[in-house]
Amino acid sequence: MFKFYPKSFMSTVLIAASTSTIAFAAQEGVSNTYENGKRVIDGGVMYPVVNGKTSAYHINEETLKGGYTYGKKATDNEIKAWDIDVMPDGTGLPEGSGTVEEGDEVYEAKCVSCHGDFGSGSGMYPSLAKGNAEEGVASLTHQRVNPDADGPIRVFGTYWPQASTLWWYIKTGMPHAAPMSLTDDEVYALCAYMLSINEITIDGEELDDEYELDREKFLKIRMPNKDGFVPNIDGPKGTDNVREYFSNPKNYGAATTRCMKDCFEGEPVLARIQTEINDFSPPLSTARELPKTDASAAPVSEGAKIYEASCAVCHATDAMGAPALGDKKAWEAVLKKGIDTVYNNAMMGINAMPPKGGNANLTDDQLKATVDYMIDQSK
Ligand code: HEC
Ligand code: HEC
Repeated sequence: MFKFYPKSFMSTVLIAASTSTIAFAAQEGVSNTYENGKRVIDGGVMYPVVNGKTSAYHINEETLKGGYTYGKKATDNEIKAWDIDVMPDGTGLPEGSGTVEEGDEVYEAKCVSCHGDFGSGSGMYPSLAKGNAEEGVASLTHQRVNPDADGPIRVFGTYWPQASTLWWYIKTGMPHAAPMSLTDDEVYALCAYMLSINEITIDGEELDDEYELDREKFLKIRMPNKDGFVPNIDGPKGTDNVREYFSNPKNYGAATTRCMKDCFEGEPVLARIQTEINDFSPPLSTARELPKTDASAAPVSEGAKIYEASCAVCHATDAMGAPALGDKKAWEAVLKKGIDTVYNNAMMGINAMPPKGGNANLTDDQLKATVDYMIDQSK
């Protein structure tokens, strides 16, 4: 059973699984009871100490000769707890419904802070729409044969082949800090909103504010880039498609024949897509920064280290409303309050800035050194 899990979802699950028992405790239909006096996690069991070893996995009593002596067969409940994706054919997609307007409201409350107005994206957070998706697809296919510096438009609407991925990506991965917190109806509403800002129609119908998306309509969505992935690996012909595709070198390089040795005279010209996606903000650096191995390199100050560990998550860009490191104007405005007030605000917190940046272990001196570092880097 092959499943594709987006990164954000994986990290969420791994963190939850390694630190506590809460991963999917709230999921419907998954038992949340006790066995052997221990809480059952998602149908999994915490096993008592056996032979002086304690583990979430018990010693495998059914080990075949020469086989593994750890692990166990996943229980039905464990499989149920993990098997929560939604497939293009509707497997895993629950009943429910929501309108574009409701989606807009949830979006404003829970998504706009990162993904920007109408999914425009902000800072390091991805755009969720860039105009009419049907038209945007052209920029993708165009890229294959004719790279241009603007880069392809690659957002949900233009790129993703299946809407089912959207449903469970939102359900299991978003909002980023509180995955699995949305109701099924909210997810339908958000999907309806996402489709509408991508100007995707369902059965020829435009998604206006009143449009109500439900399971039946969801399964009729046809994504503009559905056939954009080559070779097509789906279905019984998948393997043949892959063979055929890769037997033609034109499909993945500029050459007309296969070459494994001394393939180029002069500079190689293999790059198929020679352009980078350049809607990074701030822009990508083109300078090559090699790791500093030289012992004489300037030592990293304590303030810099603390900044990286505790503050950069919010201060690296202005996406969270924090004065960004290196933003001269923003820091000049902050410093008008007087340095003591600024230290004090860093200490006690101010608006969305948590006390000591959320790191209660910092001493006053360390915090001041960090603020000094940030000011120094922003002159
Ligand atoms: C705290 C910031 C934050 C919030 C709030 C947030 N997201 Fe995200 N979102 C992200 C990040 C970061 C990614 C990229 C994750 C990755 O690639 O691993 C992402 C990715 C996505 C994607 C995939 C985009 C793509 O093309 O790959 C979708 C769809 C999405 N978010 C929808 C939502 C919805 C809907 C909400 C509100 C319920 C929401 N997000 C709230 C940070 C956030
Ligand atoms: C959770 C996000 C977050 C983290 C983490 C964070 N900050 Fe902030 N910080 C903010 C925001 C948002 C503001 C702007 C607050 C405002 O003025 O509304 C801010 C403002 C500040 C200011 C200006 C205060 C003023 O008087 O205007 C200083 C100084 C500062 N932060 C220092 C730090 C330091 C040092 C750390 C790490 C130890 C840190 N921040 C970590 C979000 C954060």
